[in-house]
Amino acid sequence: MKFFVDTAEVAEIADLASSGLVDGVTTNPSLVAKSGRRFLEVVEEICRLVDGPVSAEVTATDVDGMLREGRRLARIAPNVCVKVPLTWDGLKACRALSSEGTPVNVTLCFSPAQALLAAKAGATFVSPFVGRLDDVGADGLGLIRDIVEIYRAYPRTIRTEVLVASVRTPPHVVAAAKLGADVATMPPALLRQLVHHPLTDKGLAAFLKDWERTGQAIA
Ligand code: E4P
Repeated sequence: MKFFVDTAEVAEIADLASSGLVDGVTTNPSLVAKSGRRFLEVVEEICRLVDGPVSAEVTATDVDGMLREGRRLARIAPNVCVKVPLTWDGLKACRALSSEGTPVNVTLCFSPAQALLAAKAGATFVSPFVGRLDDVGADGLGLIRDIVEIYRAYPRTIRTEVLVASVRTPPHVVAAAKLGADVATMPPALLRQLVHHPLTDKGLAAFLKDWERTGQAIA
């Protein structure tokens, strides 16, 4: 399963990318606003730090505007993945940009039917939002299960990858992996949290204490 970082904070991305465990980055207009920085500059800097796909979202809502913005974003770097919302105009823009060879992430997906449309429009990624569905009492992971099942039923025609978004907890990540989702995008703090287990810390402390008693050095 690929791990993307969901942030527009360049320093965070640089730090996490140095681990070699980051396969891509997702941003959205809210994350860019939170960074307080110029969008195009941020995307350019992220693309220099990460080889994998960097999702940059259009803010126009009509197809012509989305195409204009999408083409501008795609010119920044070859690994830009243009993010469009799951609307009728977004799907038209997805179809056009995909046929020009630009990767597209169709975002704000909340139903299996929407995910089918994204695949038909040639999306590289579809982004179902697990946490936001859970927030309204719906079954976020159930949506992932449905989309994976549907996409798997058409292996020859559907190439769209399931990019699990709005991921809030380590169990979300594990469940999405068990369901066979292709990618999970998560905030930096959550990615860092995945490494922690109290028994790892306790075990390491015990090993080091015993090692110290041997008086040895490895190198
Ligand atoms: C991903 O592409 C989305 O931008 C993101 O995962 C949304 O997460 P949120 O629901 O925590 O804002």
